[in-house]
Amino acid sequence: MRLMAQRSWRRGEPMALVELPTPEPAPDQVRVAVAAIGVNPVDWKMRELGPLRLAARLIGAPPPVVVGVDFAGVVDAIGARVSGVRVGDRVVGGTDFSRRQRGSYADTVFVRPDQVCPLPDGFDLEVAGALPVAGVTAWMSVVDIGRLGAGQRALILGASGGVGQLAVQIAKRVRGGHVGGVCSAKNAALVAGLGADVVLDYAQGDALAQARAQGPYQVVVDCVGSYDGAGCRALLAKGGRHVIVSGESPRSVAQLLVPPFSSKSVLGRPNRARLAPVVAAVAAGQVRVNVAHRFPLAEAEAAHRLSRTGRVTGKIVLLP
Ligand SMILES: NC(=O)c1ccc[n+]([C@@H]2O[C@H](COP(=O)([O-])OP(=O)(O)OC[C@H]3O[C@@H](n4cnc5c(N)ncnc54)[C@H](OP(=O)(O)O)[C@@H]3O)[C@@H](O)[C@H]2O)c1
Repeated sequence: MRLMAQRSWRRGEPMALVELPTPEPAPDQVRVAVAAIGVNPVDWKMRELGPLRLAARLIGAPPPVVVGVDFAGVVDAIGARVSGVRVGDRVVGGTDFSRRQRGSYADTVFVRPDQVCPLPDGFDLEVAGALPVAGVTAWMSVVDIGRLGAGQRALILGASGGVGQLAVQIAKRVRGGHVGGVCSAKNAALVAGLGADVVLDYAQGDALAQARAQGPYQVVVDCVGSYDGAGCRALLAKGGRHVIVSGESPRSVAQLLVPPFSSKSVLGRPNRARLAPVVAAVAAGQVRVNVAHRFPLAEAEAAHRLSRTGRVTGKIVLLP
């Protein structure tokens, strides 16, 4: 099997293709022949100094270091104790370093059955590969944490990004909310096309101040990380939630510790139960996944350079 890997955790070491013998799955594992891999910022963040890298280093699989969570493909072997998943099933899923698994930047991944969700017939594998982290995060933000109901208001900060585009559509087309999307002028038409009722340009002054006129909001989803938490909470209706998708800002940590506890961080870790409603919404045509860039797996470094710009509109996919 082929992996895109760093030989060690040494910082700045480039990823390179590594060939290893393909093992049989362990008794509790399914083996998936990967067709597409979604790129998320967490993939390159894990290669940089910080808590994620430290955690993966301490509890993840030993080197070679393979990053990546998202994958879609076809089950090509199952362990002796696996039930409910069959060879030939088309699936989407996410790897999990806390289970000592390697990441998904590979042509073959090994996961537990509860980490894959079956795909309906005709579901595009490239679209599926782009879905896990972004889709589950957007769903948890709007539905599980945000509890957005029909006719209620949602504000999505970073509406043109991988998570934001899905959050806008889930809020509008799945939940029937009234949606405000914050993005730059160049992405305004795209965000409106996803169903945003109001599109606000963050370059035209304070986006939170602009959003006040359409509030109050049941949910404010911050997919950027640089917006002021107190400013987000000030836009909430009674019982509303400020959902922190991007938690990079040090202020975000303070928001979790200081009352009122209307700010909540989300951790969009994909598994079968969390993926099922997202897959169903895409299959039903309610949610569209915008695969904006495709790279061969061997060019994962170029994909990371692009993702690091923070300017991508949609999803980046690697093809093994
Ligand atoms: N908590 C979790 O489980 C979880 C899950 C997924 C992602 N994340 C984190 O959430 C963040 C977003 O992830 P992603 O995959 O959506 O990233 P992404 O696709 O790379 O987001 C890029 C988008 O952000 C927009 N943007 C940048 N600055 C903005 C601003 N000030 N206001 C509004 N939009 C802005 C950019 O548009 P312009 O070019 O127009 O600025 C671009 O379209 C990342 O930090 C990621 O690590 C967390």
